[in-house]
Amino acid sequence: MACLFRRAIAEQVSQVLGLPPEKLIPHIHAIQVHRKQDSPDFQLYVNSVPGGQFNAACQMENAQKLASKLAENSVISQIGTGRGSVTFRINRDLLTKTILRKINQDGSSYGMNSELLSNTPRGLTLVEYSSPNIAKKFHVGHLRSTIIGNFIANLKEAVGCKVVRMNYLGDWGFQFGLLGAGFSKYGCEEKLRANPLQHLFEVYVKVSATAEKDEDMKRSAQDFMQRLENGHPQALSLWTHFRDLSIEEYAKVYKRLGVQFDEYSGESFYTEKAQDILKLLKSKEILKTAGDGKIVVDLSEQGDLSTYSTVMRSDGTSLYITRDLAAAIDRMEKYNFDEMIYVIKVKKHILNICLKFWRFLGKNICQHVKFGRVQGMQTRRGDVIFLEDVLDEARSRMLQNMANSETSKKTEDPADTAEKIGIAALIIQDFKGPLLSDYKFQWDQALQSSGDTGVFLQYTHARLHSLLNLWETREKEEFDANCLQDPSVSSTLQHFLRYDEVIHKTLKELQPRYLVSYLMGLGHLANVAHHSLHVKGSSPDVAHARLLFFNSIRVVLANGMRLLGITPLDKM
Ligand code: ARG
Repeated sequence: MACLFRRAIAEQVSQVLGLPPEKLIPHIHAIQVHRKQDSPDFQLYVNSVPGGQFNAACQMENAQKLASKLAENSVISQIGTGRGSVTFRINRDLLTKTILRKINQDGSSYGMNSELLSNTPRGLTLVEYSSPNIAKKFHVGHLRSTIIGNFIANLKEAVGCKVVRMNYLGDWGFQFGLLGAGFSKYGCEEKLRANPLQHLFEVYVKVSATAEKDEDMKRSAQDFMQRLENGHPQALSLWTHFRDLSIEEYAKVYKRLGVQFDEYSGESFYTEKAQDILKLLKSKEILKTAGDGKIVVDLSEQGDLSTYSTVMRSDGTSLYITRDLAAAIDRMEKYNFDEMIYVIKVKKHILNICLKFWRFLGKNICQHVKFGRVQGMQTRRGDVIFLEDVLDEARSRMLQNMANSETSKKTEDPADTAEKIGIAALIIQDFKGPLLSDYKFQWDQALQSSGDTGVFLQYTHARLHSLLNLWETREKEEFDANCLQDPSVSSTLQHFLRYDEVIHKTLKELQPRYLVSYLMGLGHLANVAHHSLHVKGSSPDVAHARLLFFNSIRVVLANGMRLLGITPLDKM
């Protein structure tokens, strides 16, 4: 495993430099795979050595000086220098045995106990994501929030955090006034039960169009909202009915997507609490009064109200943001989290104020993961409206591709297979670049089976899996490393050495693209190895060693895919 080797190197270097190995370990990096045979596995840049022992000006000489004082041993088989770095190659036999055994033993936890992650805080993380609005469109922004949030929650869990996954529904506000008032006219209980999200949306569109022209309708919507706010039982029961059915439906679609929540919270929980929050904020002297009587949080650097956010209207009523603050405090009281991550698309000031608020309380524990816009995610019929439409579209396009492909195997449930491939395609297309970038969604590109797509990852995984059918049961971890002397094995082992570094970086920046490009690299290595290392027709020892090697690739690939939110397929 990578950390064992990093430690061995650090111990050597530590003897020469007099620094504790722990200080050196984070600076010893696994080298990206080289085509060249016998290339080194790790490197240490002399100017990154803590303590400034090395003059930045003569890195080359310093690297040579340091290298000359180090000795090869049973773990480090070769010491050399690169540009300003000392390089190390690990004993092949030891490397092969250690890594392949470790992956086969650790399975899904491979890489997660790495020393590089030892300083990772492992408290309770609350992640808010998805957070759609009932009766309104579930748009692409919500889809991005959903898959990114799920990925972050998966990653945090994998490194040992406790995670609370929260969905904060838009379940309050004037749209419910409209729905309540208009349902008797435009709604249909049967349709509501059959497809609640779609039907509520249709009703909402009709009522709001009517209310624009018709004062009576507008007034009855206001009345309904008023009754709802006053807790009128009939109004509340209709609202609960809408909300419950919607959640049920959301849960079904999330399940298709492989996403779950521990809690469905929502704006409706905080209509009253918002008033308490205002009192609390007042007592903390966070609030100021702006010229026209509204109560605001000052967001300016200089404290001169040049930018601010209103939390109370001059008539004393609360706003969306006030409820958000109430929700944040409530989450703190309920879960006592160590960290809260908002993976949401909201107006900037909403987050600023929340983040500022926590800093007031002396806790800098909230983060906002931002993401860009997606253009062009349309179904064949036109605009994407609901999450379900996107999933259906991905599935039907993939089914079509499978029908046209000669290599597709007969699977028991082609629709399910197509769905899982389609979702992988969506996720990879979304995660390939920096989250902040906007991108243009292209179905054809996303669904290609070659190139860096989710389809390619699924295909590679399925191929590795079917290869393992050849594996006869025997003591799995015993194998002869001599049977694995091939450049493709060596490169793949080097790639395995980087896994924990990639996880570390992905976690630090909360950017899935590092992991995505790692997995693409692994997929390509798997294909190269597949061409040169035949299993059928090899002697039993060779076949066993090769299968163990292929299984290691499969395990790491599957682990990474699962973190991203993809269910790896065994057959396709
Ligand atoms: N429902 C909101 C929307 O769709 C997003 C909610 C974001 N979460 C929050 N705590 N404000 O725009």
